[in-house]
Amino acid sequence: MGEALQLAASFGDDGFVLRPPTVEDVDRITEICQDPDIQRFTRVPVPYRRQDAESFVPMANEALQQGRGAHLLVEVDGAVVGCVGASIDTTDQLAVVGYWSAREVRRQGVTTGAVRRLCRWLLEDLGIARVELETAATNPGSNAVAERLGFQLEGTRRSAMLLPPVGDLAAERVDANDWGLLPGELR
Ligand SMILES: CC(C)(COP(=O)(O)OP(=O)(O)OC[C@H]1O[C@@H](n2cnc3c(N)ncnc32)[C@H](O)[C@@H]1OP(=O)(O)O)[C@@H](O)C(=O)NCCC(=O)NCCS
Repeated sequence: MGEALQLAASFGDDGFVLRPPTVEDVDRITEICQDPDIQRFTRVPVPYRRQDAESFVPMANEALQQGRGAHLLVEVDGAVVGCVGASIDTTDQLAVVGYWSAREVRRQGVTTGAVRRLCRWLLEDLGIARVELETAATNPGSNAVAERLGFQLEGTRRSAMLLPPVGDLAAERVDANDWGLLPGELR
């Protein structure tokens, strides 16, 4: 078991805050995760129920305590508008990131800013050697965020992703883009 992760003090400045979720956030997380794009392109449960958000809160806090990951809400002007997350592999010193934002704040740079801050913390404060991200090739928003931040497209795995609902083998299959970010590459 790793040591508890210490969040950076800088997570609270310039316009948005990154912080762990609390039980107070359950309703808002449930509301945002009804969005069809979040259900389509992330691995949140589908359908997304209140109990899924209730499970997410202790999972996120336990991961932080155990040094296994940071799953943080993005808050702007006191309102939760998104989520960025990193699962940490302490053996290989690498992190896998993911993210979503509320529909009403999209295309305002919120996710790019939040993921940039998360990656800076991973690479500079924690000394993580490599950050990974997998996106559906058919997800222009997510691919654009990766490219903007300096992630390198390392490959495209053909037909590697089965879109939700999980378990529906007749659901659409799409190509998966593998992105990687090494120290010094973050923009
Ligand atoms: C992908 C997602 C997180 C992007 O969030 P966002 O807050 O809109 O991201 P940003 O505002 O930082 O976007 C940065 C750039 O990405 C590009 N972009 C964002 N959404 C786009 C879209 N739907 N189509 C094309 N480009 C897009 C734009 O170039 C944008 O820059 P702009 O402000 O000049 O338009 C959001 O659309 C989302 O939650 N989608 C559903 C969940 C998801 O796909 N998560 C990622 C799984 S890998």
